[in-house]
This record gives sequence, C-alpha cells and structure tokens, in this order.
Amino acid sequence: MKESIKVFAPATVANVVCGFDVLGFAVNEPGDEVIMRRTDKDGVSISKITGDDGRLPLDAGKNTVSASVQHFLKYIGREDVGVEIDLHKKMPIGSGLGSSSASTVAGLFAINELLGKPLGVKELLPFAMKGEELACGYGHADNVAPALYGGFVLIRSYEPLDIIRLPHPKDLYAAIVFPQVDVPTRDARQMIRSKVLLKDAVVQWGNVAGLVSGLFMNDIDLIGRSMKDVIVEPVRSILIPDFYKLKELALECGAVSFGISGSGPSVFAFAKDPQVAENINEKIKQHLSSLNIGSISYVSAINDEGPKTIG
Ligand code: HSE
Repeated sequence: MKESIKVFAPATVANVVCGFDVLGFAVNEPGDEVIMRRTDKDGVSISKITGDDGRLPLDAGKNTVSASVQHFLKYIGREDVGVEIDLHKKMPIGSGLGSSSASTVAGLFAINELLGKPLGVKELLPFAMKGEELACGYGHADNVAPALYGGFVLIRSYEPLDIIRLPHPKDLYAAIVFPQVDVPTRDARQMIRSKVLLKDAVVQWGNVAGLVSGLFMNDIDLIGRSMKDVIVEPVRSILIPDFYKLKELALECGAVSFGISGSGPSVFAFAKDPQVAENINEKIKQHLSSLNIGSISYVSAINDEGPKTIG
C-alpha cells in the first residue's frame, strides 16, 4: 500500500456563460497540487499550505480539502485512517477559476488512491460538493464535477445528482484572464436575484440547449452564438473592470464567445486557434494594465483527464 501520493487537479470554468450552476469545463492549467502522507495517528491534518499568502485555514475542519477528506473517511467507515496534507496552491484564490474545487478534488483523489480506490472517481463528487458548501455556502457542482470528471460537464440535475459528460470540438481553446481584483464566490452569489422573468428564461434555456447542441454537432459558430447570458452576467459584470470593453476587444481579436468564468472576476473567451487565444489575452491584459489592474492569463485546450497522480 502506498504511504504517500502527490496529485494535481485542474482549474475549471463554471457556468460557461449561459449555464449558471449547470455547465463547466476543466483546463490544463492552472491547477493545484496536494501531497498526502499516511501517519500513525488517527485523523486528517493540514501540515502545510503554500501559495495562499496565509489566506486559507490550517484547521482541518475548516479547510475544504481536509474537511471533504474527513467526510469521505466517515462515509467509507475508515475514520481510523491518519493522513497529513500539504496543499500547494498553484492558482489564484477568489479568481472564479474553481480554486477551492481544484484543491478539494486533488485531496479526494489522493485519499481514494492511497486507500486502494474504495470508491470510483465519480463517486467522490458528493464529498467535493461538501467542500464547495464550506467554501461559499452552497454546494454547486459546476466546478467540482469537471475538475473530477475532466472535460465538459453538464449537471442535468442536483437532486438526484445527474452528471453528463459532453463531447466538445478538439480545436476549442480557452483564453483566460484573471484581473487581480478579489470577488469571493459567496458575495457574487448573493447579488443574483432569486427570481427570473419568463421572457429571460426562454432566452436562457434556448441558449443552453444551443450550446449543448453545438458541442454535440462540433459546430463552433453555434457554440459561440449560444454563449449569451441574460440573467447572471448583467448583474455580475459590474464586479469586473470594464467588462463590456474587454468583451469588445476579445470579439475584435476573433473570439468565438466571451464571458465571466464562474463567479468572476476571471473572464474567458473561446477561440478556434491557440494563437488567437494568446492575442485575446494580450489585448485584455493591455487594457487592464491601462486601468492599473494587474492580471494573469492562461491559454488552454479543454482538459479531458481531470485529476492525476504526479508523484
Ligand atoms: N456556478 C457558480 C457561480 C460557480 O456562478 O456562483 C462559481 O465558480
């Protein structure tokens, strides 16, 4: 039996513009790393966190990684197991790129591997959702499901959970920019109205169906014209500096679509070519810099692999 393991889990783009809480995809970078070691004493502890500027709790009951591992151990009846966790944050916190999900999924994948896979990878999802609940007050699955399953994922239903892995065109690249302003998911969720107008709902479900059809049909133009959000984006866009200007710049560079990643402040565009994606990022970064806002960018194809053992 393995005594220690190192796992990487990917960042994710949730909502994918029109699919609030029901669509998400994983990317190749960034992501987080977890090293988990078995110990002689019972229970789960966090021994070290790097890359978080001291922002994440070391208390095992409050940290999403350790807390979800505790739920898992309880469920499989192995609370006698002792592990300590090093969490290496390799991605920004509060960025809208599924930072807590990447850590939580890495931790759950690690414990399941260390114990000889008592559960299938997909069965880890409810424990990862517990981590999201701890992080932002609601156990949404549109970051944790793609981080765990890899690829492009639809949460068809929460109760009961029904997760569908969607196909996607091979030549679809995400250009992602994180403007360095803080937008906690908890706050960004609270600002959304709980009721929607029927006329907006009609537009939205047409677009969700159009996006899913485009993914199945390999039709990038249909994907692009379906990625419109009349419900959440108009409210949340105010949290993102010059959001509509950034959108205009991305579309001018040849983006297929543009929107908020998760609850923001990261934004993302789809492009048919990695060079176009690089150009989009460059333009957006330049504009943010003219507003005195620093940013970090990534270009990635969709990551179909999900979490992986790296040591
Ligand atoms: N669906 C979630 C939200 C994703 O938009 O609040 C958070 O990353």
